[in-house]
Amino acid sequence: MTPAPETEPTSAPATLATATRGRLLFGGDYNPEQWPEETWHEDVRLMKDAGVNSVTLGVFSWAKLEPQPGERDFGWLDRLMDLMHEAGIGVVLATPTSAPPPWMGRLHPDTLPRDADGRIEWWGGRQHFSHSSATYRRYAAAITEDLAARYASHPALTMWHINNEYCTFDHGDEAAAAFRRWLRERYGTLDALNTAWGTAFWSQGYDTWDGILPPRHAHYLNNPSQVLDFRRFTSDMLLECYLAERDIVRRHTPHLPVTTNFMPLWIGVDAWRWAEEEDVVSVDLYPDPRDRLGAQQGALVQDMTRSQARGPWMLMEQAAGPVNWRGVNHPKPRGLNRLWSLQAVARGADAVCYFQWRQSRQGAEKFHSGMVSHAGEEGRTFQEVKRIGAELRRLHEVSGTGITADVAILHDWHSWWAATQDGRLSTEADHPDVLRAWHRALWQAHLTTDFAHPEHDLGRYKLVVVPQAYALTDTAIGNLLAYVAQGGTLVCGFLTGVADQDDRVRPGGMDARLRELFGIRTLHEWWPLDAGETVECDGFRGTLWSEELEAEADETLAYKAGELDGLPAVLRNGRAWYLSTLPEPEALRGLLARIASEAGARPVLDGLPADVEAVRRGELLFLLHHGREPVTVTVPGTHHDLLTGETVTDRITLGRHGVAVLRP
Ligand code: GLA
Repeated sequence: MTPAPETEPTSAPATLATATRGRLLFGGDYNPEQWPEETWHEDVRLMKDAGVNSVTLGVFSWAKLEPQPGERDFGWLDRLMDLMHEAGIGVVLATPTSAPPPWMGRLHPDTLPRDADGRIEWWGGRQHFSHSSATYRRYAAAITEDLAARYASHPALTMWHINNEYCTFDHGDEAAAAFRRWLRERYGTLDALNTAWGTAFWSQGYDTWDGILPPRHAHYLNNPSQVLDFRRFTSDMLLECYLAERDIVRRHTPHLPVTTNFMPLWIGVDAWRWAEEEDVVSVDLYPDPRDRLGAQQGALVQDMTRSQARGPWMLMEQAAGPVNWRGVNHPKPRGLNRLWSLQAVARGADAVCYFQWRQSRQGAEKFHSGMVSHAGEEGRTFQEVKRIGAELRRLHEVSGTGITADVAILHDWHSWWAATQDGRLSTEADHPDVLRAWHRALWQAHLTTDFAHPEHDLGRYKLVVVPQAYALTDTAIGNLLAYVAQGGTLVCGFLTGVADQDDRVRPGGMDARLRELFGIRTLHEWWPLDAGETVECDGFRGTLWSEELEAEADETLAYKAGELDGLPAVLRNGRAWYLSTLPEPEALRGLLARIASEAGARPVLDGLPADVEAVRRGELLFLLHHGREPVTVTVPGTHHDLLTGETVTDRITLGRHGVAVLRP
């Protein structure tokens, strides 16, 4: 039996290590309120069998905990907390505030959010709360306070999980009032707001704060700067909700870490800003098992989460089998759950958890898999879960260790928000797709990547790439220039440095300092490409976008056809590169691999087969085989494979979805 988690107060700041205590956490969301109590005992038996050492309780338990306004029913949760403690399983206790009970909306309609068309989001689903509602916040604080007071000293408690996937927007009246307050704080005067929003266009000048609304259903395009600020406001309001609950639980348990689970690369919240307020950065990750690039999608989110955490992070949710929210929902083929779980560990996760422990028999997610599927203990899903639990126990030594990357990919939510506005030149050049394309190129070149914000210190990276940073602050531009001046290599993609923080286009269509950096004399026109269209260039084909520009750079690759024939497509000026189109995947990989090599950034291993991903974490080398046919990997020297216990000399063969974790 695993020892019971410690909850003795310490003076050290709470981190993920406080909860892991040198182990890897393994488990998932446990929703026992859906099951009779006999099943709880069965659950404990199976959890022990699978090596589960952590469960998240209470994520959607508000109606059960507070059946009537102000009433409390903690008896069932007391029994569960005790049961978990007796079993040596730590509890990540959630505040239940993402799904208010039906009585709340009925008695307090002001707690319900409205969309841009004025439609109410009713109870009957989940996340039907307005971040701006004083009533909602009062109830949320009260239940959080009582939960924290009751379980603060419970020996099973290891971590707090606030709310769940914060993601609601609200365009209603209380949100409108909060939006005005937020804008007053940002701009101080109406003049400043009118200037920032460019309200001279279309007669939008505001003469009173009361005239300002969230972007609501309008006859034609909303003001883009208003939309941008509304996104900023929404992220900040949700953050306020998180902070209010975080501060309550922290007051009761300063020695325990607090997290809230992000959705992967989700547009709604500025995860850089949020991560600063979390003790543990956690994410939910559901690549499509049929997606040829599912593993890369996973790697991208894992790299981003690790970078936000600045160290180990928590995979809060993944699926043991199918999800149920795609058009067609595929199960995970044999070995894939294990492969992707170990990939998360390779890329820095110290916790591998699932939604959810036992697959529901009722409710909206009854066809979403669980660690224990409808097939039960004998089912393939649970058998594979057991194997993963056993293997993670062999990898505890990885807990707390880090990953060093030579390459950083820059990403900023505010820029993304500004870039996705209506009224742009192309909806094909979608920011996340561009980001994925660049990460994919580096991932396939076996280069380890971090993510960073454009204003972060970039000094430790040999190569910094900017797939697309449409809006950059002056500080960010200064940061990029300083990075290159100090010897760094910078590669920027199209539509970078176009706008400032208010979404105002910079004179010349791209910031003058950046144009000088890249050797661009004049940027005449943007020439977006249609879906599927390509443009012939020197040695490759470009996609999505092209640009008509004049340059005086050290090296150029030209467009070879059409209107832009002979004009530069790719420019290098000193150590700064600019790509005015998105090269097709092979070409982008080749180009970035060449630039990385010139900058001194090395692949994890030389000569890796295409389907094998390699990651160094601490002193361990993870090899992850994403293909189905056996491959042999050259790994010079003698190693110990932690998974098999065998000695590996110079080469190792990996079967279908095989994994090796090698210690030199
Ligand atoms: C999210 C939620 C979970 C569950 C899963 C299903 O990640 O946090 O409650 O709905 O999706 O995929």
